Amino acid sequence: MIEERIRTEFSKWFKSRPLLVKAPGRINLLGEHVDYQEGVVMPAAIDRHFVWAMAAAADDKCNIFAADLEEGVSFSVNDLAPGEAWINYLMGVLDGFQRKGFSVRGVDCVLGSTIPAGAGLSSSAALCSGFAFGINELFGCGLDRTQLALIAQRAEHEFAGVRCGIMDQYASLWGAPDAVLVLDCRSLTHQTLNVNWGGYALLLIDTKVKHALASTEYNQRREACAQAVKTLQRHKSGITSLRDVRAADLLQHEQELEHDTFIKALYVVEEMSRVNKAVDALKQGDLPAVGQLMTETHWGLSQAFEVSCDELDFLVSLAQEKPEWFLGARMMGGGFGGCTLNIVRRDALDEVKDLLSKKFVAQFEKEPDFYLVNLSAGVHIID
Ligand code: GLA
Repeated sequence: MIEERIRTEFSKWFKSRPLLVKAPGRINLLGEHVDYQEGVVMPAAIDRHFVWAMAAAADDKCNIFAADLEEGVSFSVNDLAPGEAWINYLMGVLDGFQRKGFSVRGVDCVLGSTIPAGAGLSSSAALCSGFAFGINELFGCGLDRTQLALIAQRAEHEFAGVRCGIMDQYASLWGAPDAVLVLDCRSLTHQTLNVNWGGYALLLIDTKVKHALASTEYNQRREACAQAVKTLQRHKSGITSLRDVRAADLLQHEQELEHDTFIKALYVVEEMSRVNKAVDALKQGDLPAVGQLMTETHWGLSQAFEVSCDELDFLVSLAQEKPEWFLGARMMGGGFGGCTLNIVRRDALDEVKDLLSKKFVAQFEKEPDFYLVNLSAGVHIID
């Protein structure tokens, strides 16, 4: 058990009794690349997580040991400058608290994770959200989960250079067992929708593709959407994001937009309307309709938004060839690699893995990974 491993590791390094915090990764059923345009998204926390053991230090020093990497780092809370890799995220979180006027001291921490890195399951959001939650508890800052999500998001913006939306951090903090969140990224409020998957399961298939330029491409997509908003604002008042735009508005002003900007913005607007349909379908327990919308999203992300890759497209095409097994399949998260999310018949899981593995290996000469996931609680204290 990871909890035990982290607790034991902590006692090797530090004397005090730690707070144990669990911070999950997330999936997203529908609403991809719409959070930063104030759309509605349907994420959920999953049973893959970071575990943190944390205790307040007596001085300003943060002593952090990443058990999986077997790598330890020490720095002062008074000297937070973006530097290397994962430490950036933690510095970003501490900086967020300081900017809010909290004088946090140092912390002794050990962390480990069961979230596959680079698989699009938001391990960095879970990393930041769990750390922010722990700091908030240890120093009695009294921030609520949404405020913690905003601090975690800001850490990615300022200290990791990814201008991500709020979905991942919010889902990690607010997730609920067996439920999907219907998160309104404009009002930062959500409803919890309980889902009965019946004879179906959520299966992630990891292409293990990691695109080095993913964050640059991500920021460019965000920029294209912002550009479309700027153009439309010249014609219509009250537009602050693509949330306020209909497909007809885009079509009417198509000539004024660069072709690529038009296509990307149209995808976002269409995805927002798919989410509305999916929320209704899920409320009625109509999983086949949700699955179909997911597959439509995939091809929008692939052909119009251009954030897919051959491996992801290949897996989704295979799923479409087997409607007796799959209700839906799509790439998930920012894109350019990572996992597909699939709604699959539970009693066909072995056959699915077997067939997809064989075909994937034949095509790409590498094995995909499979993760069966359950929807679980958001960040919480386990001890
Ligand atoms: C990444 C970002 C999210 C969101 C998705 C795409 O996961 O962190 O904010 O934009 O991509 O939906």
